[in-house]
Amino acid sequence: MIGNFTYCNPTKLYFGKDALNGLKEELPKYGKNVLLVYGGGSIKRNGIYDRVIALLKECGKEIFEDGGVMPNPTIEKVKEGVERARKAKADLILAVGGGSVCDYAKAVSVSVHCGEDVWEKYFIRFEDVDCEIVPVGCVLTMVGTGSEMNGGSVITNPAQKLKIGHVFGENVYPKFSVLNPEFTYTVPKYQMVSGIYDIMSHILEQYFSGTDDNTSDYLSEGLLRSLIHSAKIAVRDPQNYEARSNIMWTATWALNTLIAKGKSEDWMVHMLGQAVGAHTDATHGMTLAAVSIPYYTYLLPYGTAKFARYAVNVWQVDPAGKTEMEVAREGLRNMEAWMREIGLVMDLTELGATREMLDGLVKSTLIMDGGYKVLDEKEIRAIFEASF
Ligand code: NZQ
Ligand code: ZN
Repeated sequence: MIGNFTYCNPTKLYFGKDALNGLKEELPKYGKNVLLVYGGGSIKRNGIYDRVIALLKECGKEIFEDGGVMPNPTIEKVKEGVERARKAKADLILAVGGGSVCDYAKAVSVSVHCGEDVWEKYFIRFEDVDCEIVPVGCVLTMVGTGSEMNGGSVITNPAQKLKIGHVFGENVYPKFSVLNPEFTYTVPKYQMVSGIYDIMSHILEQYFSGTDDNTSDYLSEGLLRSLIHSAKIAVRDPQNYEARSNIMWTATWALNTLIAKGKSEDWMVHMLGQAVGAHTDATHGMTLAAVSIPYYTYLLPYGTAKFARYAVNVWQVDPAGKTEMEVAREGLRNMEAWMREIGLVMDLTELGATREMLDGLVKSTLIMDGGYKVLDEKEIRAIFEASF
């Protein structure tokens, strides 16, 4: 059954090898001042920076730069960006980078004209935006988060050991996003597979909920099959355009709200992973990988039928002569083998977490109630322990 919903995704996408030319169409729609936001310098090394600057100049823009956005962007950096955007009187924030840069751009965009403490307002009280928003556009260089076509903005507060995502409304979605799969060729393998698992996890968080027949779950199964197939190719041959373009497109659909429509969502893997991120600053997708198998193994008895369906439809498990639980377990074993094959981190120790952090990790984990089992703190602790 499909529950009631409204659906609108206002982000315009430019996809493919010539996608950057989309800037020529988009930039004239905004005023002169552009705040160019980017990360630690990869775009300068791979030439994307020069190409973007050339197009900004061609379109007559005044360019103000805000580089150095770190993976897992912090609230302190956001405050710095807000000052820059105010000084520049930015008419557009152009984010050139991965999810961290896009998320950061959205956080700055809703904060420039906000008179309140933005950490408290957006990331603790989860309030709506009630001020003017500076529009954001994205040029994506790293695939995984879906930030290019959603309202998500995940910001870390290192002092409070919290990493929290606010899902903003349609007015905060990027106005446009440029998706050229070739821009992702220079992403290091560790980051690439981390992004691949982030995509996988986004789909699974929306898939493992509910017991009814829902079209969104069929869409999810198709996306998962494409991802599993393309990931194996991309790991062997990172410059395979077919695989990289499929992964890029899957990432966008995995988290642009479509496959969540009409159903509940889980998101506990992300809550566990984000707690790890808050304590270790580890790479997002790897934090999800390290906790996933322990979490799903724990969840199996509560959602056995769905896990069996996942095993058959996604992992091609033959159910003949097996109980539902046996089928479900075989699916998880296949998933784990694929995770190891593509090189994901399967142990929290490798991410810098220690058993001494357990109390803090449990405390930093937000508890969600949309999945097959609402966890309590004891269960969360046991899942973290099993992830070491
Ligand atoms: O900073 P630079 O030098 O650019 O290097 C980056 C960074 O070190 C590098 N990189 C990006 N594009 C590259 C490249 N290196 C070479 N060539 C390129 N073309 O990759 C590293 C990681 O970048 P980052 O943006 O941090 O990765 P990702 O896209 O995985 O973003 C992760 C952040 O997004 C949040 C995560 O929590 C994390 O903070 N998420 C956002 C979501 C959303 N908006 O909906 C949902 C997700 O679940 C996720 O939580
Ligand atoms: Zn994610």
